[in-house]
Amino acid sequence: MYYGVSYHPEQWVYPYGGTPERPEAAWEQDIEWMQSAGINVVRMGEFAWGLCEPEEGQFDFGWLGRVMDLLGKAGIKVVLATPTAAPPIWLTQKHPDILPVDERGLVKREGTRHAVCLASDKYWEYSRRIVEQMAKALGPHPQLIAWQIDNGVGGNFTEASFNEDARREWHLWLENKYETIERLNNLMGLRHWGQNVTSWKQVPMPMRAPTAHNPALVLDWRRFCSDIIVGFVKMQADLLHQLTPQCPVTTNLRPLLHRFDHFDLAEVIDFVSIESHAVLKPKPSGMACEIDMLRSLKKADIRTPDGDAGFWVMEQKAGSVNWQEVHALMRPGMLRLFSYQLMARGAEAIVFFRWRQPRFGGEQFHGAVMPHRARATARVFKEVDQLGDEMKLLSPTLKHSRVAAEVCLLYTHDNEWALQQATHRNQFFNLREHIQLFYNALHERNLAMDFARPTEDLSRYKLVLAPSLHLLAGGEADRLKLYVQNGGTLVATFNTGLVDEYHQVPDTGYPHDLTDLFGLEVVEFDHLPPGEENHLTFKGAFPASHMHPARLWCDLIEPGDCQVIASYAKDFYAGRPAMTLHPFGLGKAIYIGTQSHAHFYTDLVTWLRQMCNLHPPLRVPDNIELCQRQKDDANLYFLLNHQNSPVRVQFYKPMHDSLTGNAISGNYDLPPRGVLVLDEPLEAKPAGETE
Ligand code: GAL
Repeated sequence: MYYGVSYHPEQWVYPYGGTPERPEAAWEQDIEWMQSAGINVVRMGEFAWGLCEPEEGQFDFGWLGRVMDLLGKAGIKVVLATPTAAPPIWLTQKHPDILPVDERGLVKREGTRHAVCLASDKYWEYSRRIVEQMAKALGPHPQLIAWQIDNGVGGNFTEASFNEDARREWHLWLENKYETIERLNNLMGLRHWGQNVTSWKQVPMPMRAPTAHNPALVLDWRRFCSDIIVGFVKMQADLLHQLTPQCPVTTNLRPLLHRFDHFDLAEVIDFVSIESHAVLKPKPSGMACEIDMLRSLKKADIRTPDGDAGFWVMEQKAGSVNWQEVHALMRPGMLRLFSYQLMARGAEAIVFFRWRQPRFGGEQFHGAVMPHRARATARVFKEVDQLGDEMKLLSPTLKHSRVAAEVCLLYTHDNEWALQQATHRNQFFNLREHIQLFYNALHERNLAMDFARPTEDLSRYKLVLAPSLHLLAGGEADRLKLYVQNGGTLVATFNTGLVDEYHQVPDTGYPHDLTDLFGLEVVEFDHLPPGEENHLTFKGAFPASHMHPARLWCDLIEPGDCQVIASYAKDFYAGRPAMTLHPFGLGKAIYIGTQSHAHFYTDLVTWLRQMCNLHPPLRVPDNIELCQRQKDDANLYFLLNHQNSPVRVQFYKPMHDSLTGNAISGNYDLPPRGVLVLDEPLEAKPAGETE
């Protein structure tokens, strides 16, 4: 297992470290400390273009080679980042047309990272050259185990740029998609407000305008921008695969935040790397949801440096960040606890951001493993050091283990982009909040979940959740039917199937293409402002523990042959169905026409658990987060206590503590922010009962 830091050796040469005689001497001390903390990998180079090519065509990779040699002596491997996230200043000044242009037509100037338009041919040309030179110079180095392409691609709001290069590419992209102007006009519905065009060149980029652009056009623009980003990463991946076939490539991602299709991007890299901001999430389930989203981006054809099939955490923030309003310190034990949460959910490597707090630049006060006055007694360093020892111990146990989920939640970027448009929405509805309600209820029960696009193979899941797939492409609807037909249980909700892939509303009833699957038709929907509620009245076996409200959105459902599980309690649609179940083929299609409070989702999961035969891996107290990784011959259990007080866990049979090697049985007090990793050989009977 790899355990590492993001290192910026360029910031620790004389006069910031070392001496005039030995300007790079600080590297030796850094590496000594790293080695003592069990660090066995560093990531470097992500913003170093200006130092690797200080003048056009003058390349200097010698300094990176020298650090790699020193790291090699300490047995530390290297992930090199291609430096294209920060164009050198000479490049942007020589070719100002590569600078990004915002939606008002204003140029965003040079002088920071990400000051580029990724659709710029010039930028691609220069990027190709620096990547090629870097791969030729450092690719053969024995310490190199992987490449990180770019850094935080799409970050700092650079997913879209309205340059002339972008306009040209946009028109080509549209021509490729629609083939004729007539199709474009028809499928986009450009006759609305008479915005029909007679040539590709007339199609506008959705820049700032008096009111909302045609939603189909905006959606295509997002897809186009995404394709540009994915294409840029693929260009580098292809080059690196060709020059250094032995090294897998990755890039670091945030939890589906930037506006490009993360699933598409994951297809062009060998393994996914993620950023983790434990300090920012008030609840462990928020963090867990992000980890699961990112883990799910790539489920097959994974190639990591050590051959495992998981993901890397390329930037585990080692303390507070520097881009919020207030920056509280990360409490003792948090770094360790949240690193275990990442491992429990499939991480194969933890790389902290960053090794040292820099003395200059825009991230001077960002948290790091080492504070400004670096020393081996510093608090965070000591925590990292302790964890380093544990990683070494756990590494063989974790090897070849994976997270295996039986539940899956469907998500597409297309859908989220459609929902962000102004055409038909309750502006208080938020897809991520809706997803989180489902996620929290499963997380409470310690049921593992994957995310997936509807077009993936869903047959391996017992339960598929599909909250608010507002945009549903024809092919996607077919996949959902197939899944249920073959015995799956599908739960969909209000705001499903209201537009197709061209953003057109069907005239065959909502949810588009799925009325037969759910045995109903949604004929109208009522949007409720915050504070206004309807209520649900249940029939039959649904285990309603509370009075459940109906919030934000109430579908008016005309039932066909579905069974009614709940109906609305008041208003002119009192008594009409709000939640239904429809047997379809060998499976069941459940429809929830409204959004409710957290207790409803807890009850829903209780109901579904029984229906789908879903069991948490062990029984643990409610406030313990429990995750499982499986391998051929053993199950691994991670028990995480996120509380500030100890929690008593009861084991009815002895379990093996992977960290201490001890057998645990009877009462065990998991300390505040404590972690327990247990391994159980598979020949043994089912896991010990705990309470
Ligand atoms: C990341 C980025 C790093 C650093 C960090 C600050 O997204 O990749 O370079 O800026 O945020 O938290």
